[in-house]
Amino acid sequence: MDKTKLEEAASLIKEAKNCMAFTGAGVSVESGIPPFRGENSLWERYDPVILDLKYFQQYPEESWPVIREIFYDFYGKAQPNKAHQVLARMEQEGLLTCVVTQNIDNLHQVAGSKVVHEFHGNLHYLVCMDCGFRQSAPEVDLSVLPLLCKHCRGLVKPDFIFFGEQIPEKAYADSLTAARKADVCLVMGSTGEVMPAAMIPREAHRHGAAMIEINPELSHFTGDITHIHLRGKAGELMSLLEPLIFAE
Ligand code: APR
Repeated sequence: MDKTKLEEAASLIKEAKNCMAFTGAGVSVESGIPPFRGENSLWERYDPVILDLKYFQQYPEESWPVIREIFYDFYGKAQPNKAHQVLARMEQEGLLTCVVTQNIDNLHQVAGSKVVHEFHGNLHYLVCMDCGFRQSAPEVDLSVLPLLCKHCRGLVKPDFIFFGEQIPEKAYADSLTAARKADVCLVMGSTGEVMPAAMIPREAHRHGAAMIEINPELSHFTGDITHIHLRGKAGELMSLLEPLIFAE
């Protein structure tokens, strides 16, 4: 990794009045969670249709077992990696205002980040599609599927956003507000493929933010809005950035 690029990124972050982070599945790869796209990704092994809202409502007996296998048998065990930890430390030390995340794995919060706008919701909650009853997933017995509401027998779904579902209003509004205020935006581990999430870094760019991207590959952002591309893994690069960011 080019040291000057790291130093340039670190000084932008240190001098920023309003630095935000936008994260995608790539920041959780070093925690053992596969990304959705790219090498060893979920959509190489599973059909994304299982996360299509209409399909789920029509064929819950088909979708639910795959959803459990991908998101509940697996995700519960993942721990935050250095990328999550350094972002949480940056917030604690006043160098980061918030994280806007597409991820549903709760790892930013587990790492200690307090202001996390969850653009696609969070897998740790389940919600009844009929009566709206919401409960935390670890308390629910997932052995009998499809999951029906214990109050009204309605179909229960994970409280994260399926394809074809509205983005949570507050998360969307808060993310846009953060993007419009940011003078530095860290874009980490995202292809930039999925809308409207990918509009958030673009909004920051439109409002003059310096765009620092962390990704081992190129994304839809790289040739377009990225100013500094730190090419590499999020955990590894945040470990290199940490001493530069917090140096006295
Ligand atoms: N560190 C940083 N980035 C990484 C790493 C890593 N260790 N490993 C992979 N990446 C990058 C890949 O190069 C890719 O650009 O992370 C990105 C993962 O892409 P996606 O899986 O498409 O992730 P994301 O952009 O967050 O997907 C958006 O798609 O299916 C939906 O709702 C789902 O939130 C998800 C959305």
